[in-house]
Amino acid sequence: MKKADIGLVGLAVMGENLVMNMESKGFTVAVYNRTTEKVQKFVEGRAAGKNIIGTYSMEELTASLEKPRKIMMMVKAGQAVDALIDQLLPYLEEGDILIDGGNSHFPDTIRRTAYVESKGLLYVGCGVSGGEEGALNGPSMMPGGSPQAWESVKPIFQAICAKVEDGAACCDWVGENGAGHFVKMVHNGIEYGDMQLICEAYQLMKDGLGMSAEEMHEVFAEWNKTELDSYLIEITRDILGYKDEKGETVVDYILDTAGQKGTGKWTAVAALDEGVPLTLIGEAVFSRCLSAMKAERVNAAKVFPKEVPAFEGDKAAFVECIRKALYASKIISYAQGYTLMRTAAKTYDWNLNYGGIALMWRGGCIIRSVFLGKIKEAFDKNPALENLLLDDYFAETIKGLVPAWREVVAYAVKAGIPMPAFSSALNYFDGYTTDTLPANLLQAQRDYFGAHTYERIDQPRGQFFHTNWTGHGGDTAAGVYNA
Ligand code: 2AM
Repeated sequence: MKKADIGLVGLAVMGENLVMNMESKGFTVAVYNRTTEKVQKFVEGRAAGKNIIGTYSMEELTASLEKPRKIMMMVKAGQAVDALIDQLLPYLEEGDILIDGGNSHFPDTIRRTAYVESKGLLYVGCGVSGGEEGALNGPSMMPGGSPQAWESVKPIFQAICAKVEDGAACCDWVGENGAGHFVKMVHNGIEYGDMQLICEAYQLMKDGLGMSAEEMHEVFAEWNKTELDSYLIEITRDILGYKDEKGETVVDYILDTAGQKGTGKWTAVAALDEGVPLTLIGEAVFSRCLSAMKAERVNAAKVFPKEVPAFEGDKAAFVECIRKALYASKIISYAQGYTLMRTAAKTYDWNLNYGGIALMWRGGCIIRSVFLGKIKEAFDKNPALENLLLDDYFAETIKGLVPAWREVVAYAVKAGIPMPAFSSALNYFDGYTTDTLPANLLQAQRDYFGAHTYERIDQPRGQFFHTNWTGHGGDTAAGVYNA
C-alpha cells in the first residue's frame, strides 16, 4: 500500500477539514485520534473512498508515513501537545517533522522547538486561521520553527492554503521557533481590534444617529465597496440584515456580553512585555471585559442616567466621517501590531518578512481584507519601514482622514458614547506625532521622589543628572545606590 504524504492527529472539526483539504489537493493522509472510534467513523464516513488511511495506534500511524515523516498535530492547545509529542517521539527518527497546527502560545512553541530539535527531529509551529471553513477550503497558514523543515512541508502547505486573486499563496515561512505562532497571535489581536472598531461604529450609528439595523446593513454594504472591503465588514453587513422567522433582527436580541478565549489578551501581554504601545488592541480586550460586567453596568447606568442628544446635522455626511475615522483607526491598529512584531523579532532573533505576513493575512483568515494588499506594498517597498504611518501612501491617507476622525471622536465624547478604540487610536496618533511630550515633567517627578535621574536636552544622550529638589534629599542619585 502507498505510504501517506503526511499524518494528522486530532480529528476534531479543524483536523478533519484539513485532512479533506489535503486529500483534495492530491495528498495521501494518514489519520489518528486518541478516541479511536472517531478514526473509524471518519474513514467510514466523510473519508470513505478517499486517499485517507485510518490508523489506530502511534505505531501504525508512524509506520504508514513516507520518510521523512510529517505529522501534523491538531489537538487542544496546552498540555495535550506536550503529551502527544512524548508519545510520538519513540516512533520517530532523525529528520522527521512534527507540526503543531493548533493555537499554541508562542513561548510553548519556542520551548517545544528546542526540545524536539534536541532529539534530532524538526519542529514546526504553524498558526492556522480561517476557522472550519478555511481549514476545508484554504486557510491562512503561518508556519515557523526549524527552518530545515520548510522545504518538506512547503508543497503541502502552499497547496492547501488560501490564495489571493493573483494566485499567490497565503502561507510562507515566518521564522524560527515560535515566530509562526507569534504572528498568528498578533493576527488574533488585530482581529479583536478590527471587531471592536466595527462595533464602536455600530454603536455610534445606533445610539448617536438613531439608525436602524436595516439602515446600518445598507451602510456596511456600501463600506464594503471602499477601502474597508474585508471579511469582517462583509459579515457585519449580513448580520445586520439577518432576520429570524418572525421577521425580527437577530442582532437586536443578542445579550451584550462578549466572550474571549485569550489570544487577544496574549497579544496585549506580549506588548506590555515588549514595551510597545499596542493601545487599540489593549482597549479591545478591555472592552470585552467591560461588556462582560453586564449587571454592574446596568446598575451604574441607573446611578448616572444619560440621554444622548438628538443628532442635528447631515446624517449621511456624518456616516462618511465615521467610515473615515474607522479606516484611520484601523491603520493605527495595524501600525501598532507591526511595531509589536518588529520589536519581538529583535527580542527573539527572528528575521520576519513583513510584506509576506501581510500576504498571509490577505486571504483565508478572519482579518482578510483588500487593505492588507496596501500594507504588503508598503513593506515590499521598504522592508525596514519603522512604522506603517511613515509609509508615503499611509501618511497621505491618514492626513486626509484626520479631520473626520477628530470630528467623530469629539462628537462621541460630547454625547457620552464610549469609543475606546477610535479615541485611543487618535491619542496614539497625536502622541506619536508630537515631538515634545510631557515626559520631561515625569522624569522630574521620578527624580524628585526617587532620585531616578534624567537626561537633558542641552547635553548628549546617555548622560544622567540628578537635582536636589528639596534641598534636604542629598545629592545621591538612585542609579548609584548600591543597596
Ligand atoms: P479526543 O477525540 O480523543 O478527545 C480536540 O479536542 C482534539 O484534541 C480531539 O481530537 C481530541 O481527541 C484531541 N485531544 C485533546 N486532548 C488530547 C490529549 N491529551 N491527547 C491526544 N489528543 C487529545
